[in-house]
Amino acid sequence: MDAAKLERAVEALDQARLVVAATGAGMSKESGIPTFRDAQEGLWARYNPEELASPQGFRQDPARVWGWYNYRRRLIAGSSPHAGHRALAELEELVPRLVVVTQNIDGFHKQSGSSTVLELHGNINRFKCFEHGHPVDIEIPPAAGDGPLEPPKCPRCGSYIRPDVVWYGEMLPHGVFEQAENFARSCDVMLVVGTSGIVYPAAALPMAARVGGAIVIEVNTQPSQLTQMVDILLQGPAGEVLPALVTGLAARGPGGGHA
Ligand code: APR
Repeated sequence: MDAAKLERAVEALDQARLVVAATGAGMSKESGIPTFRDAQEGLWARYNPEELASPQGFRQDPARVWGWYNYRRRLIAGSSPHAGHRALAELEELVPRLVVVTQNIDGFHKQSGSSTVLELHGNINRFKCFEHGHPVDIEIPPAAGDGPLEPPKCPRCGSYIRPDVVWYGEMLPHGVFEQAENFARSCDVMLVVGTSGIVYPAAALPMAARVGGAIVIEVNTQPSQLTQMVDILLQGPAGEVLPALVTGLAARGPGGGHA
């Protein structure tokens, strides 16, 4: 990690009133959470992503889709947030306002204590019914075993339950992206962590921040599609870079440049 770049990033955070942390799959890599495609191994490798994650795929074979999500929920249940997630939660104490916007569905930001989290692609442990979108407010622990599994039924209408995540061909949850965009436009610093910048509309947020005058800091193990437009690339794993930022900022003591 480049010390001079880290210091510039700490300085920017020290001056900021509103910080937005926009996170993607790379954020959860060190927790051992595979991406959608990386998880597609074994018996799941033979399907295309739409067969496992689209309304058409669910209609065609609800047990296949529920089985796939059961398997992924079990992977997540067996993992936990890492030092990078915890650093973002700690950063809340060091800046006037911090909002996390994530493409991840694992719920790790909330689990590690971040208080304002916009989950653009939903949450794998929240459920709704397939036919009407009725929220189903119950805990459904992942079942043992792999393979197809019949989904439970909605207590209200009897249709199948599905995970409350964004599938191929679906819109983002109402209003959530608009909120994220507003925060992006008005923030002073955006931390873009572990995202390739390919999947829209999430990939548009760093540009919205840039246009709004924010300093955009990328945290990634390697350059991405976004690197050309960011102000600072802190190259390294989120689990090391984010704690280093927090340590650097905390060392400056209270009453930074934003008073
Ligand atoms: N720390 C920081 N960055 C990392 C780390 C790490 N430990 N490991 C990997 N990365 C970076 C990679 O270099 C890459 O740029 O994280 C990025 C991950 O990119 P993607 O897998 O494309 O993830 P994301 O940008 O979140 O887009 C995937 O597609 O399947 C859908 O909805 C799903 O949100 C998901 C999106």
